[in-house]
Amino acid sequence: MASAPAPARGAWNSRVGFILAAAGSAIGLGNIWRFPYVVGENGGAAFVVIYLGFVFLIGAPVMIAELTLGRRTQRNPVGAFAAIAPGSLWQFVGLLGVITGVGILSFYGVVAGWTFGYFLKTLGGSFSHTMTAEQSAAVFTGFVSNWLVTCGLLLTFLLLTALIVWRGVSDGIELTSKILMPVLLVLLIILAARAVTLSGAGPGLRFYLAPDFSKITPQTFPTALGQAFFSLSLGMGAMITYGSYIGKRDHLVSAAGLVCLFDTLIALLAGLIIFPALFHAGLNPASGVGLVFQVLPPLFATLPAGQFFGAAFFLLLTIAALTSTISLLEVPVSYLIDEWKWSRHKAVAVTTLGTLLLGLPSALAFGAVGWLSQLPGAGIDFLTLMNIVFGNYSLSVGSLLLAVFVGYRWGVAAAAEEIEQAGARFGLRPVWAFLIRFLCPVAVAVIIIYIVFTGNYF
Ligand code: TRP
Repeated sequence: MASAPAPARGAWNSRVGFILAAAGSAIGLGNIWRFPYVVGENGGAAFVVIYLGFVFLIGAPVMIAELTLGRRTQRNPVGAFAAIAPGSLWQFVGLLGVITGVGILSFYGVVAGWTFGYFLKTLGGSFSHTMTAEQSAAVFTGFVSNWLVTCGLLLTFLLLTALIVWRGVSDGIELTSKILMPVLLVLLIILAARAVTLSGAGPGLRFYLAPDFSKITPQTFPTALGQAFFSLSLGMGAMITYGSYIGKRDHLVSAAGLVCLFDTLIALLAGLIIFPALFHAGLNPASGVGLVFQVLPPLFATLPAGQFFGAAFFLLLTIAALTSTISLLEVPVSYLIDEWKWSRHKAVAVTTLGTLLLGLPSALAFGAVGWLSQLPGAGIDFLTLMNIVFGNYSLSVGSLLLAVFVGYRWGVAAAAEEIEQAGARFGLRPVWAFLIRFLCPVAVAVIIIYIVFTGNYF
């Protein structure tokens, strides 16, 4: 029998609503900002191939595991581990997830703030004239080095996120995702069609789509793995939390499959826009976190009504980021509500304030404060460091432990029973069992051990 979730937790209104909301969490800056820049830094198509392998062989099984654990336990990540393994150390995996959520939100909020700032700039006509790549790069550098602007935008964006999470799960999250994700998809398709017909698109497409495996470096694997987890919102319990809101009659496996598919489609489309445009403009693919902000404005300038397109694009990207940050904030918030018995409002207020404080150094890491822009010893800026530590390593460790937990401690049989409820068929069960018990833990562990032993952290 389907047990209804406790009213205070909220529940999804429909199956489609759940998929859209989970896709809303997955689809965000990870697809459109992070994916192109890590592809650019890691040699292009060969990286893309490895990334796709990780998404479907490691990401998808982990997503099924997270959603299943969440639906079974109806809890936040810490409570979910505790419900299956009471009094054990497994709860700390959940706690790692809660901390990682705040860590990711802190720098993600900064980039989302830039996105919103670029929306306003585009709308105001800053990019309506033809511009060179150098001019566009100079605009970006000037913009991100202004501390008042970046901190103000971070604050604005975190407040927007808090406002939605404050209102609660189903009306806030679901409604936002339902309406706006499809619009974003349409816009991306239009932009991709424009980008691939630019002069000089050819070398860009080759860089992006014709793998040259000699370009693989030791950093390729951890980066591709981290990107897969980041893009799919895995490894910190966001999907455990979302799974706790999915109905008992919904099919978890097909939901997970659809989310992985949508998410990958959007990332691939983003690459199809960025790389032709980038080679057209003569920019360096390894431009780092500023890549999309430098490549896109000159592209918009080549479009009829480019000002309108550009503004619409940055607005939708801001909204896509918002449906992701909602899921990041919802993890610590649901933890504080369930485990500490805080009210939703108190949990939202305190977490948002903490995230803001943690986010300020990232907001100041692009020229505003010298040592944050070039950390002594690390040679990278503070935001990039947070991005790698929380966005790659924390998520990888979290996913590894989750796979071990579901594969061995809870057990694939018990998990499959949860999946197969209400007559749902799970034909891929043996495949999933193999992936979650063997392939995921071994592959992730090998990559982590390799990094630790070779010291190739960044
Ligand atoms: N997946 C989102 C993106 O691609 C970011 C995100 C939201 C996330 N929730 C998460 C990443 C949880 C890791 C874990 O933009």
